[in-house]
Amino acid sequence: MDSQGSAAKVLPIFGEDFRPRFHFTPERNWMNDPNGLLFYKGKYHLFYQHNPEGNLWGNMSWGHAVSTDLFNWEHLPIAIRFDEEIGIFSGSAVVDHKNTSGFGSIEKPAMVAIFTAARHDQTHQSQHLAYSVDEGVTWVRYSGNPVLDESMKDFRDPKVTWDASSDTWLMTIAKPEEHKIAFYRSPDLKSWKHLSDFGPLAAIGGCWECPDLFPLAAPDGSTHWVLLVSLNPGGVAGGSGTQYFIGQWDGTTFTTSQSDAQWIDYGRDNYAGVTFNDAPNNEKIFLGWMSNWIYAKDIPTEIWRSSMTLPRTLGAAEINGELQIISTPVFPKNEEPYHYLIDCDQNCSITFTTDAGSVEVIFNASTKRLTIDRSNAWLGDVIEEPQTSPKTSAAEFNLEIFFDHGSIELFAPSIALSMTSLHLLHNEEVKISTLNAKSLHA
Ligand code: FRU
Repeated sequence: MDSQGSAAKVLPIFGEDFRPRFHFTPERNWMNDPNGLLFYKGKYHLFYQHNPEGNLWGNMSWGHAVSTDLFNWEHLPIAIRFDEEIGIFSGSAVVDHKNTSGFGSIEKPAMVAIFTAARHDQTHQSQHLAYSVDEGVTWVRYSGNPVLDESMKDFRDPKVTWDASSDTWLMTIAKPEEHKIAFYRSPDLKSWKHLSDFGPLAAIGGCWECPDLFPLAAPDGSTHWVLLVSLNPGGVAGGSGTQYFIGQWDGTTFTTSQSDAQWIDYGRDNYAGVTFNDAPNNEKIFLGWMSNWIYAKDIPTEIWRSSMTLPRTLGAAEINGELQIISTPVFPKNEEPYHYLIDCDQNCSITFTTDAGSVEVIFNASTKRLTIDRSNAWLGDVIEEPQTSPKTSAAEFNLEIFFDHGSIELFAPSIALSMTSLHLLHNEEVKISTLNAKSLHA
């Protein structure tokens, strides 16, 4: 058992200040939401909201990178670029294996991106297509755009998936100001028919954005449908956050008996996350933008700005009589998390300290809540409240901590908890000390 103040480990100094060791960052310039997450021919494709010309939001375009393991990324040229009229906002990508769109062929299917074309004057958003016949390297904008236009100012972030049960495409898309998610169906990606709307429900303190709808198996083998809805502001930890609904999808309508918000993550820095299409073994691998619109532009990195969360595999489990989503991190190669057993009858803490500051993970035995306190490693002019988990009724739980330059992620699968937070400890030597936290390292 670790005793009070014991120095468990000293982390080495590494690389450019704040550049993560095992999280995706663009080589240069601004990034926000992950887009077009797709697995094809052995490669994960990550497109992302990107400003090719600067380190602040603007000139929105789709950046692009590929990886075989979700950790070593090869940066590719900008996939889809903004123009004088529109920015290329968030969306998704599919491989059109049956050549329903006619953009490719059965032998050489096209990769098709479905994205929101957002007019720079902020008067109009509609859905456009672009396609690639060279596995995502170069892209052509479809001449028949827009493919879906409801004459709305805010209407964005289409997530399209193949529905094998009906041999058609299904789109899940946000009407942000109305707190609604709309569903559409198409035989060919080009003509879309409205099916239904869902919402408003649960957390509605901000715009609804970046939805995702997918089936997930419960431990008893039953299938449930999950609807992810990001909202900003109004997230559980302040600012941007992602809620989810568990319910049923009948091919036209999503229904749920849930009335309160459930959250994918209780930290302040996991936003706009969605899952990869066509991931191996039908897994639902989730990736989020590791920042928050409250302060994303103030993070003091000069060459690039923002990173993605660790990828997580989503599963469902019943906890306290309620079906909940469990995020299991995909382990980076050569990185083991710090692993502790938390006894819920005892106050405990794990502290990461450098000469200039500290980040603390604290379990409070009277409130039964876990918090991340980064107030000693944060932007100087921001008053920073700790980020807090829901109350647990467990007697003990295993806690995994991934600590990287600029971020900390906590996972406690047995209590359905993940917490993701940026921090601003410079890349100096980091000392880890614990109080009452039993290290489960060999
Ligand atoms: C979410 C979001 C999306 C939009 C994109 C623009 O963070 O606001 O709704 O498509 O960012 O960059």
